[in-house]
Amino acid sequence: MGTGDTAQAFLIAGLAAATAGCGLAAPGRTMHSMGEVRTKFNPGGIWTDDAGKPIQAHGGGILLVDGVWYWHGEDKSPDDWNGTGAGRTSWVRCYSSRDLLNWHDEGVALAAVRDRAVHDLSPGRVVERPKVLFNRRTGKYVMWMHIDTHDYKYARTGVAVSLSPAGPFEYLESFRPDGAESRDMTVWQDADGTAYLLHSSEGNATLHISRLAADYLHPAGEFVRAFEGRYREAPAVFSHAGRYYIVSSHCTGWKPNEAEYAVADAMLGPWTVAGNPCAGTDEQRKLTFESQSTYVLPVPGKPGRFIFMADRWNAGNLPDSRYVWLPLRVADGKVEIVWRDAWEMR
Ligand code: DGJ
Repeated sequence: MGTGDTAQAFLIAGLAAATAGCGLAAPGRTMHSMGEVRTKFNPGGIWTDDAGKPIQAHGGGILLVDGVWYWHGEDKSPDDWNGTGAGRTSWVRCYSSRDLLNWHDEGVALAAVRDRAVHDLSPGRVVERPKVLFNRRTGKYVMWMHIDTHDYKYARTGVAVSLSPAGPFEYLESFRPDGAESRDMTVWQDADGTAYLLHSSEGNATLHISRLAADYLHPAGEFVRAFEGRYREAPAVFSHAGRYYIVSSHCTGWKPNEAEYAVADAMLGPWTVAGNPCAGTDEQRKLTFESQSTYVLPVPGKPGRFIFMADRWNAGNLPDSRYVWLPLRVADGKVEIVWRDAWEMR
């Protein structure tokens, strides 16, 4: 995913514009008068879009396209969600930004399917952790996501495609990758275009890392089992200085737990567990700042600096779950995530 100088120039321009009170959330768009112009990340606060509405992009990921960041995530908005899920019209929403702080709602990226009795995207199903990659060979944006029934026994991965990063995405199908159960997941794209699916499998006990076919629509048939018996969920992957890193959580439902990271020289391993990446008090370290990983975003032009993106789930009111974005650094091969009440990228 883009980490070049062009992106950095956009980032600086976007931040400068936001600071001056005329932030551009997306190309050619002026900040809506209702929307607050943000100059800092406020982990755990209510994060509104440029129209003043709380952002609905939980369990999400980021894609950089021509200097614009696209944030895809679970839409749990109260408008569409009445506690049973029956009122749902949208599963995945997409937002765009030039500065990662001020976001414009691009609308529904993946709609619920309401006119079929049984469908993976029926309002009562579970659709979680959508992540999007661009396939250079096919020219298509490919969304991967966890598809499940309410009892989490269906345990499949779903795939959707679009010609535009914001969608709407056309749903293709779901399956068990390499014949294995699949729940929490993410995807990774190497610089040479090889892509991988990382997903919690075998009753969540073991993480599978599966190479994707060239069109990114199916697993290629080669996969490894990692962290056997360690029950890792919420994988978020990044690379630095030729090594790969996975930050993940333990399995405690919507409750936060202790993060762990692992390092490898190749995506298919072998992986070495390296400990808890969180710095701070025991409580902060034990509960990952009351959040659960979803994505790690490289700060363009700043090698070794990343944004750790996590969800602070509110089990009693999932639409009000918050985003915890924090600085993550890799120094001497060690990963460190630090708490900040409010922070900006410099
Ligand atoms: C933890 C997972 O990480 C979330 O995505 C979600 O599936 C919850 N479990 C459901 O309890």
